[in-house]
Amino acid sequence: MRWPKGLDGLCYGGDYNPEQWPETTWVEDVELMRRARVNLVTVGVFAWSRLEPRPGEYTVDWLDRALDLLHRGGIRVVLATPTASPPPWFSLAHPDALPVTADGVRLRHGSRDTYCAAAPAYRAAARRIAAMLADRYRDHPALAMWHVHNEYGTVCHCPHAADAFRRWLRQRYGDLDRLNEAWTGAFWSQGYSDWTQIDPPRATQYLSNPTQVLDFRRFWSDELLAAYRDQRDLLREHTPDVPVTTNYVFGDWVPVDHARWAREADLVAVDHYPTEIDGRAEEQTALAADLARSWSRPVDGDGAQPPAGRLRPWLLMESAPNLIYRYAEGTAYAKEPGRMLRHSVAHVARGSRGAMFFQWRAPRGGAEAFHSAMVPHAGADSRTFRSAVQLGEALRLLAATDTATVAARAAIGWDAASGWALQHPGLPSEHISYADEVAAAHRALWRCGITTDFVCPAAGPLDLTGYRMLVLPALYLMDDAVADTLGDWVRAGGHLVVSYLSGVADPDARVRLGGYPGALRELLGVRSEEFLPLGPDGTEPLSGGRTGRLWRERVEARGAEPVLDYAGGVLAGHPAVTRRSVGAGAAWYLSTRLDDDGYRELLAVVAAEAGVAPVLPAASAGVEAVRRVDGTTRWLFLFNHGREETVVAATGEVLVCGAVLPSGEILVAGDALPAGEILLAVGAGTPGSGRPTGRWPVGPAGVSGTPGRGRGARRVRVPPGGLLVLREPDHPAG
Ligand code: GLA
Repeated sequence: MRWPKGLDGLCYGGDYNPEQWPETTWVEDVELMRRARVNLVTVGVFAWSRLEPRPGEYTVDWLDRALDLLHRGGIRVVLATPTASPPPWFSLAHPDALPVTADGVRLRHGSRDTYCAAAPAYRAAARRIAAMLADRYRDHPALAMWHVHNEYGTVCHCPHAADAFRRWLRQRYGDLDRLNEAWTGAFWSQGYSDWTQIDPPRATQYLSNPTQVLDFRRFWSDELLAAYRDQRDLLREHTPDVPVTTNYVFGDWVPVDHARWAREADLVAVDHYPTEIDGRAEEQTALAADLARSWSRPVDGDGAQPPAGRLRPWLLMESAPNLIYRYAEGTAYAKEPGRMLRHSVAHVARGSRGAMFFQWRAPRGGAEAFHSAMVPHAGADSRTFRSAVQLGEALRLLAATDTATVAARAAIGWDAASGWALQHPGLPSEHISYADEVAAAHRALWRCGITTDFVCPAAGPLDLTGYRMLVLPALYLMDDAVADTLGDWVRAGGHLVVSYLSGVADPDARVRLGGYPGALRELLGVRSEEFLPLGPDGTEPLSGGRTGRLWRERVEARGAEPVLDYAGGVLAGHPAVTRRSVGAGAAWYLSTRLDDDGYRELLAVVAAEAGVAPVLPAASAGVEAVRRVDGTTRWLFLFNHGREETVVAATGEVLVCGAVLPSGEILVAGDALPAGEILLAVGAGTPGSGRPTGRWPVGPAGVSGTPGRGRGARRVRVPPGGLLVLREPDHPAG
């Protein structure tokens, strides 16, 4: 089944809030949507107070008219349940359903996401409004998908949360002895003699119990999931043929284990807002898309993760057309021209069923009045809207790639619980961030030009079939079954790279004894007896001119060969990086964070040994290459993130070429023209019309040399800040 319902090709659109505008504006909206080739909008995400202004009193006529208008315009609708933002009357009527912070402060309405998912009144009200929408719009012809809630993320420590936590713990541990053992209750006199004594981790005198905190995070992810399931099941009952999803979000703060949630959605939907503004934004985009694709891999009946290369659709549900807030820094930043196009198509290259934005039209007021939109405050006569029109054209041209898969032979381990456990302030360094560790590994492979999946050991039995190379950065929590699977996989020919802080603890965050990295010591052929963390800026020289950062360990090789040694400090002469041949494979250990070049070079060596090739072996720096495969057809996506035209060796027909013009306007051309015959051109005419009006100085994009549908290797020019998608010559399947 291909979701969303009734939509062929790629999805394009964004959050649409008709409740913020007079109906005359709606008419213009639909007209502009059609101009931009928008075919899908998410409606009603924050519309609860408009839909139910007083308890049980529904005003839906405006939504009827909005959906009818969209339908007449040929635009399909993802209808949201508005439960992320209960109206003020709800919180006044049910103060016990307002969230309580760890410090005991009960929050009030006045923002959004102000609810406790464990409060019975909230759950009941959420079901009621979802049922009302399901009942009323079940047969609406515009309905393509349900969007439950928005970015589940509010954490609560109130008495309802405490009760639910205790129930969850009873189920996990059965009796208090087992809980006390798992939580190391003998330390600091924390043994519990009655379930009622257990609280969510509230503000306390000094460091909290790490396993209590970890279990609370696991529990809260499950509690939010239960709230989602309430609505999903009810919606499915009303409309069994309409898919249901909810949007996932990225970041250290997120209280949800998306890998475990993913199987609960008909289509994995993610929101992605890069936090970096330099070249790292592209790396973050690739990482987010690779994670989303990996979350969306189908789950077999027994819950096992299936072999690499199988793709269930996923969708980039939100991204920013332009200005993004950076709350931590107090300044928003604008996306450079070209980034909206490149980032959107980069998600498609990595498997997304399209590109959606927050938001369609910029609001006149409210907390996010200056967040960018496809139609900005300036209106349709704006660079941003013209870019949106060009992106719509690019997605139309890319429709043929829609069902193609993305094949990866390399993977990285991802485990939300390890990330949560590593946030405990009692660990030897607060400068180790799990997200950074994963990003560093992904960046190294991205810079090698290698497409990477993620595997999530805690989301079900680990199946590494199809992968030749696996990197496990800081996979702190590890059970014996995962360690055994890794051993079998390496002996059978897998190439495993493990970094510090992996396998150190069991799933209860209790340290494995006998030397680090506990669960993997024998497989790696090392024993590390001491951690010697470096400060946030500390470095240590390594042999080969490389540098270690953040972390060091006193490693003894016990069967492994040293690859790099510490070249200074108290560990001078001790191994820093090791390799052990195991059966038909190899196991590598990194006891420090290699500098970026060192990490990339090391993973390139491992990839070469493992037979994992980059997408384009000779791609020049600055060009990102991703391949999608559909039977015998292959699509090659090339992105030039630099400012200079770049030439790479590739061949095929040009499906789409997108470029940034000197004026900052975007121009997209294509339509399967033979390579070499595309002229990207613009003059003073009508940017955004899609029709070239003159020659663009960068000149022909596509193949240089003889134009035509050649099959041999060619030199392909990729415009600066732009992209090129080629349909490669057919090749035998497999
Ligand atoms: C999230 C939310 C949106 C909006 C954007 C702003 O993705 O879902 O409602 O707040 O962030 O970037």
